[in-house]
Amino acid sequence: MSASPPHPTPSPRFPASFVWGVATASYQIEGAAAEDGKGPSIWDTFVRRPGAVRDGHTGDVGCDHYHLLDQDVELMRRLGLDAYRFSLSWPRVLPTGSGTVEPRGLDFYDRLVDRLLEAGVTPTPTLFHWDLPQALEDEGGWLNRETADRFAEFTSVAAERLGDRVKRWITLNEPFIHMAFGYAFGTHAPGRALMLDALPVAHHQLLGHGLATAALRAAVPDAQVLISNNCTPVRHRSDARSDADLAAGSAYDALHNRMFNDPLLLGSYPDLSAYGMEDPAWGGVVRDGDLATIAAPLDGLGINYYNPTWVTAPADSAALLPFDLAEPEEAYRRTAFDWPVVPDGLTELLTGLKARYGDALPPVWITENGCSQPAGLDDRARIDFLAGHLGAVADAMAQGVDVRGYFTWSLMDNFEWAEGYHQRFGLVEVDFDTQTRTPRASFDWYRDLIASQRA
Ligand code: FCB
Repeated sequence: MSASPPHPTPSPRFPASFVWGVATASYQIEGAAAEDGKGPSIWDTFVRRPGAVRDGHTGDVGCDHYHLLDQDVELMRRLGLDAYRFSLSWPRVLPTGSGTVEPRGLDFYDRLVDRLLEAGVTPTPTLFHWDLPQALEDEGGWLNRETADRFAEFTSVAAERLGDRVKRWITLNEPFIHMAFGYAFGTHAPGRALMLDALPVAHHQLLGHGLATAALRAAVPDAQVLISNNCTPVRHRSDARSDADLAAGSAYDALHNRMFNDPLLLGSYPDLSAYGMEDPAWGGVVRDGDLATIAAPLDGLGINYYNPTWVTAPADSAALLPFDLAEPEEAYRRTAFDWPVVPDGLTELLTGLKARYGDALPPVWITENGCSQPAGLDDRARIDFLAGHLGAVADAMAQGVDVRGYFTWSLMDNFEWAEGYHQRFGLVEVDFDTQTRTPRASFDWYRDLIASQRA
């Protein structure tokens, strides 16, 4: 029995100015890992660690987008997209992270930007989607405060070359996930398992965001600056609503959501005492002036939403972390990744942001939302997922949240980090042996949705 209704619910009407997009990231699609002078990134190193990535997959070839750029832009033209969110590979432009610029790397993005503009698609680059130059990791990566300065240097190089045509910029992708998976648990590059000692990575990334914002504003006076945060509404099972459970939920919310939104929008960190962080200066990590740099005005807050998180009090009171993650009691539909499909979590998240930040909340952009489904072209479950989540966005807008655009993750199947090529998130199916791209049913659905919204 299929859980999907045969016809997805018709989409509500969005404002004419609403921006329709798709998203990708450099290491997940480009391939050409050592071509045209590109330096190694932490992902090039990490994928070679035995057992790090399922079946030993690597992004060496990816979707070979580096060579198939024209085809891929043609797919976007056929979708009728307003915007394309992609990321710049820092080590393709600055092979050692700083200093010498590789002109062939910049030329690639220059060409991509021109092709997009010819296709009527607004380029919306992300400056850091996790592929840090390995040379900077060798100096401590984001544990090292100087990486924030190097990020601003890279931002200036990119903005000076592309800023005549590129106006909408995203600084970081999901600094929480990068800190947690990359530095606390070690399941992503750079594969460090520091647990709570990873927390400075949050501050240094946010400082990098603030310095990059200043660099963008200097190089591109009419730039629109965004950041993409992964956010999750925190939920409790009906049998886990004691004060201790609620305190655990609040501690989780502080770590995953507020630690990254509060400094940007309020200029302060939330209470992190549940993590043993009593000192507001984090033992010297947070220096005078940093929060003012981080809280520089934003033109938009990018939200990447996949699902809520269920939290209980820790079963072991001596545990390092002040929460346990739980499974929902509801029998939600699941994606191929086994993530629960909860569209109303997106409405809850967006209205919750408005309630917490009020007028300090800039316009919101959904910069990622989508799902992994089994291979195959008849991906009705993906259509249902997208239709449901767009309905959730419309509900939040009806409740007063200013949402300006929506980027589906992802244009095409790609390298899904520690899962390698096993999770397929694309509107377009990719045969990784031949690099053939075949649009799925969801591609046609999204194209028709965009066209009907314009009609
Ligand atoms: C997000 C990442 C993106 C992709 C999706 C599925 O956390 O930003 O690169 O892997 O998850």
